[in-house]
Amino acid sequence: MKDAVLIAEGLVKTYDQGRIRALDGVDVALDRGEFVSVIGPSGSGKSTLLHMLGALDRPDGGTVVLDGVDLASERRLDRVRARSIGFVFQLHNLIPTLTAAENVELPLVALRVPRAERRRRAAELLEAVELADRARHRPNQLSGGQRQRVAIARALANEPKLVLADEPTGDLDQAAGKRVLDLLSGLRDERGITLVLVTHDLSLAERADRRIRILDGRVVPDGSHAAGS
Ligand SMILES: Nc1ncnc2c1ncn2[C@@H]1O[C@H](COP(=O)(O)OP(=O)(O)OP(=O)(O)O)[C@@H](O)[C@H]1O
Ligand SMILES: [Mg+2]
Repeated sequence: MKDAVLIAEGLVKTYDQGRIRALDGVDVALDRGEFVSVIGPSGSGKSTLLHMLGALDRPDGGTVVLDGVDLASERRLDRVRARSIGFVFQLHNLIPTLTAAENVELPLVALRVPRAERRRRAAELLEAVELADRARHRPNQLSGGQRQRVAIARALANEPKLVLADEPTGDLDQAAGKRVLDLLSGLRDERGITLVLVTHDLSLAERADRRIRILDGRVVPDGSHAAGS
């Protein structure tokens, strides 16, 4: 791998005192600027994998090396996330009491970016996701697709090298889902970010450079006519 941004080897994650083996020895390597989709049935471990890759949680076994840094040696995973990672959650997790713009600014508060700069970047990102005219709306005043676009803008606020999106199109109709994916893959092209997309929608998964198929916590060969879910 010439320019790997992330290398995960032998990832194991168990829940319920080891009774549930959500990840059972997963190897994943991502090149800089690569767009990879992750497919597999419900409960197969896709979100768990994304959480390990995105430094949201630590594996019970195996290693994750992000940009040459072994995450096991990082005591403060929150700092790694704040600096390098953008996460679009399966349920977009916007703060209901904050406006769209304030939600986008939030990751920059943790990075102590000055207020004027935060506002400038939030405005620019909302413009990029075509929501400049909704900046002062709160999540409950936005449509599902608009909320998802705010969540994407928020994930990009810290200028991450790695964007992990967990079913960002799950609750959208097909046209809105396609627009969200156009946006994400366009940002990959423009900004050179590495993009990992979990999706049940095979037509979206096929637009990636490569697909990773998960079954029962393991990566399995991705047959060309494999079912999506
Ligand atoms: N916090 C937790 N405690 C206990 N079990 C968990 C926890 N999180 C996930 N699991 C279990 O781990 C397995 C993998 O879950 P995961 O959320 O990674 O699946 P998924 O592939 O993302 O599914 P979906 O497509 O439904 O989102 C499932 O059996 C799930 O029940
Ligand atoms: Mg999931």
